[in-house]
Amino acid sequence: MSEAHAVLRAEDLEVGYGLTPVVRGVQVRSNAGQLTAIVGPNGAGKSTLIKGLVGILSPSAGRVWLEGDDITGQPPEQLIRRGIAYVPQTANTFPSLTVLENLELGGYVKRSQVRRRVDDVCAMFPDLRPALKRQAKTLSGGQRMMLALARGLIIEPSVLLLDEPTAGLAPLVVDTVWSHILQIRDSGVAVLVVEQNTRRSLADADWAYVLTAGENNLEGPGPELLANEDLVRLYIGGTAGQTTPDG
Ligand SMILES: Nc1ncnc2c1ncn2[C@@H]1O[C@H](COP(=O)(O)OP(=O)(O)OP(=O)(O)O)[C@@H](O)[C@H]1O
Ligand SMILES: [Mg+2]
Repeated sequence: MSEAHAVLRAEDLEVGYGLTPVVRGVQVRSNAGQLTAIVGPNGAGKSTLIKGLVGILSPSAGRVWLEGDDITGQPPEQLIRRGIAYVPQTANTFPSLTVLENLELGGYVKRSQVRRRVDDVCAMFPDLRPALKRQAKTLSGGQRMMLALARGLIIEPSVLLLDEPTAGLAPLVVDTVWSHILQIRDSGVAVLVVEQNTRRSLADADWAYVLTAGENNLEGPGPELLANEDLVRLYIGGTAGQTTPDG
């Protein structure tokens, strides 16, 4: 593999709420055209880490770089303009706005380019085009997640951060959403994903980080971590190398 291009990178990151840090001393790197996974038990600090990377929480220590520029502490509005897209774990669409309004509010896209970008994301997510004038709340769970992904992509991001994009979806819908995520990666975007389906995300992750109690515990190519008996026993269940998907 040729030398990977780091789009987003963090060193010694400390993020929390108020005075107590939740995440401490964490290193993360998200490369162009690669899927990077963050896995770990409930409450490990995965969402907190992501919020520190996208500027929703301001890190109390450490640094974050985008394409080599120090962006530590910059607010989310500014980071969206710079090409960082974020799909939160919950409340990632506006239910009472139409699909088109949701897309238009996805980021700071020049007026003249909105139509082209809406066309582009509708080409990628065909369910959205016939629904453009419908309220987002009329969509199915899977369609709403596609809308959330499309909202993220409207700014043509260089890096896309996804917090549990398949949570609560039916298994068949999970397959569809996941294949879209791989397609986004294959288009060259750096994709950083937190996934509750650990087995699936590790199987496809070019690189993965295991976060435990707010600290980096292990990292490596996803399939290698999946082959690690201890890791599988602690965080995934079943046996290492087992191919049946977890629920
Ligand atoms: N708004 C908040 N204020 C204070 N503490 C919080 C807040 N949100 C989360 N925490 C705490 O931070 C810790 C990490 O939470 P976080 O949501 O980052 O974990 P997570 O790994 O994303 O968990 P899950 O897998 O359940 O999504 C937890 O102890 C949680 O209680
Ligand atoms: Mg979370």
